[in-house]
Amino acid sequence: MRALSSPATSPVPGIEIAARFAATRQRTLAIVAPLTPEDMMVQSSPDASPVKWHLAHTTWFFESFILRDFVPGYLVFNPDFAWLFNSYYQSFAAFPEKRLRSSFSRPALDEILRYRAHVDQAMERLLAGDPPPEVLQRAELGANHEEQHQELLLTDILHAFFTNPLRPAYLDDPAPHAPASPARPLRFTGFPGGLVEAGHQGDGFAFDNESPRHRVWLDPYSLADRLVTCGEYAEFMADGGYKRPELWLSAGWDAVQENGWRCPLYWSHADDAWTLFTLRGERTLSAMASAPVSQVSFFEADAYARWAGLRLPTEFEWEAAAEGHPIEGNLLDSGNLVPMPGASSPATNLLQDQGPAQQWGDCWEWTASAYLGYPGFQPLPGSLGEYNGKFMSGQMVLRGGSCITPAAHIRASYRNFFSPETRWQFSGIRLANS
Ligand SMILES: [Fe+2]
Repeated sequence: MRALSSPATSPVPGIEIAARFAATRQRTLAIVAPLTPEDMMVQSSPDASPVKWHLAHTTWFFESFILRDFVPGYLVFNPDFAWLFNSYYQSFAAFPEKRLRSSFSRPALDEILRYRAHVDQAMERLLAGDPPPEVLQRAELGANHEEQHQELLLTDILHAFFTNPLRPAYLDDPAPHAPASPARPLRFTGFPGGLVEAGHQGDGFAFDNESPRHRVWLDPYSLADRLVTCGEYAEFMADGGYKRPELWLSAGWDAVQENGWRCPLYWSHADDAWTLFTLRGERTLSAMASAPVSQVSFFEADAYARWAGLRLPTEFEWEAAAEGHPIEGNLLDSGNLVPMPGASSPATNLLQDQGPAQQWGDCWEWTASAYLGYPGFQPLPGSLGEYNGKFMSGQMVLRGGSCITPAAHIRASYRNFFSPETRWQFSGIRLANS
């Protein structure tokens, strides 16, 4: 494999990388602690993967891209794992079809956990021994990769539990409850636009798809100062939102018809009332009315914006509003695991001071921007070049992180991306206006 030389990664002291590695690996185990081995086998949708697979695949990343290349005589834990737990890296090894991951009853969970321990010990020895900068860069990439899988793991288990007729809760503790008070009125704050810069800057970690930093022209625009709430989305539904083709993009209307959509993914209707399924179990719509609507597709976000007479922001409008603001919000570190209502006081949401409320966390925000390479984009060399670049077709960009995104993982230039019909992520809506 060729050397990593991307400007999108930068050297960070080895002791920091070692600490990040250890903390990330431990957090994954903490996230799966409430789950049974049977829970970890479920693959309830083609988008999702079993938890056990996530545990192995994140480990595979470190073994495949670091230990095999940089530790002379490294003892591979199991040669079959090189292809078995490869996700999509065509130039690295063949791999099984994604839909078959739930058939991996073997290797057993205890063997996967021993695989993790084997790789952890080798990584910790390597990182403690003054490794070359490229090891540190790949270890930092691997930690960020595992953080992405921590979020996927939780979204996948939420889907698995939603499809279980018993609707088990990931966490039995129902707290924290969303306040029942109505959301404060939606307000818009203007931005002057003009010639701005977008993309990663500075010495911190970023994925290759955030570079190069480049100039973008923005006409004056305004952004909503909070996310669209469940209560507001219920008004769209009550107004026939899912029955009015004029509100939908053509492909979105097709998705509505083909999938029978009439509400967000985890909403259910019984006894004349809506309930929402969360990682903390079932909740009533009335209890969640002021919380951000989540688990909607790009098509639904776009249709809602059209219904409201507004639009979704572009990713560059979003980034220009976010840059320079502290990363504070309802992220994984808060422990809520559920989108929460924004602050009730407008005084705490002054855009000029802190950025738009709920800009970090709660829900990823669909943007109107297609996921494309920035001008001059260069994927990482070698197999790692398949990490992001090959997906730059047919996907839309989401910004800002969610209630299950680690705080250290997100930044203003971070670009998440999913196909426009995707609904199983914590994806929500921020409105924009010209
Ligand atoms: Fe992965």
